Amino acid sequence: MDATLLLRRCQLVNGEGLVDIAIADHRIVAIAPNLPVTATTELAIDGRLVSAPFVESHIHLDSALTAGEPRWNQSGTLFEGIEIWRDRKASLTVEDVKQRAIQALKQQASQGVLFVRSHADVSEAKLSALKGLLEVREAVKDWLTLQVVAFPQDGLYGRKNNEALMEEALKLGADVVGGIPHYEMTREDGVRSVHRIFELAQQYDRLIDVHCDEIDDPQSRFLEVMAACAIRSGMKRRVTASHTTAFASYDNAYALKLMGLLRRSRLNFIANPLINITLQGRTDTYPKRRGVTRVKELWQNGLNVSLGNDCIQDPWYSLGTGNLLAVADMAVHVCQMTGTAEIDACFEMVTQGGARTLNVESDYGIEVGKPANLIVLAAHNPYEAILQRATVTTVISQGRILVETTPPQITWHG
Ligand code: FE2
Repeated sequence: MDATLLLRRCQLVNGEGLVDIAIADHRIVAIAPNLPVTATTELAIDGRLVSAPFVESHIHLDSALTAGEPRWNQSGTLFEGIEIWRDRKASLTVEDVKQRAIQALKQQASQGVLFVRSHADVSEAKLSALKGLLEVREAVKDWLTLQVVAFPQDGLYGRKNNEALMEEALKLGADVVGGIPHYEMTREDGVRSVHRIFELAQQYDRLIDVHCDEIDDPQSRFLEVMAACAIRSGMKRRVTASHTTAFASYDNAYALKLMGLLRRSRLNFIANPLINITLQGRTDTYPKRRGVTRVKELWQNGLNVSLGNDCIQDPWYSLGTGNLLAVADMAVHVCQMTGTAEIDACFEMVTQGGARTLNVESDYGIEVGKPANLIVLAAHNPYEAILQRATVTTVISQGRILVETTPPQITWHG
């Protein structure tokens, strides 16, 4: 057998022994120890970890890399972030969005991210964020899969034209219907928005990903509305609840009842621990809440959880480099998932779990016949990868080497 690319002696995430991986015509064509294959390019992996790529399941590329424009978020709150973004987006153009989004995607891809779901704010009349990200989706498609969520940052009913803008965004080609029920003017508007989101998703045959209960208010209970709609509509796995930070503030009696409903709903969950550990609990003195949703309990209940960056250097979070191992590391700490199986689960949440959230599983994973998207890490297992925030030394996209990075060399002169 001939191959274009051959990786020798790879350690797979759940593999027992080392295997070779042969790639031809952009696909994985063989996986076995000591493959009798010649290839145009052969890489000696020498027992290091080879994984399917990282999946960024929640990011806002339209606001990425704007921290400090036009001013810094001094209170650190979600609501000051929304106000600053309202001012910044007044000068938003399609070119501005495209240039920053591609820069952020290259930064993420160089760290092993090849699947991304980005929200695009569709609350501004020109829809510059959405149009820009749809052009980016096309521009990067040969090396990265981008999904775009039509996200009504100011609420579906917060302004007169927002509902019409959402529908226009879907007609223009957004992949996912977004929402923000806890930010609508009233509880009733929030409930109405969730029902409308499900109607639109069914009408236009799109996925759903709602910013749901991203607040410390224990009375913010739109997750139960989403779960009920997911069950009644039959959409289940096509539906994602992002953030759900209020779930960390619910009392246990309600949380127990809710968990039963969630198991029936089969919703996907996305936690964004880097940003929510900084945004939430801002009105608390002490004890101060962590404000990250119940990741461990959702995982223990068999629900799909993925992890995202949410923001890279924007009005809500001035830090962040787009590295998903940093996100997994924060989840291990904030969600107290320090057991060995729990650390492995956090690695899975930035890989396979993300693929489930994005509904791209059929094209994702290291299996014969699947597109050859994989990454090589300077680590031997997921624990080492998270512990060391290991360098992704090689990124292979659709059978081609896209990026190579040399880990830092330390010379000790002691
Ligand atoms: Fe978000």
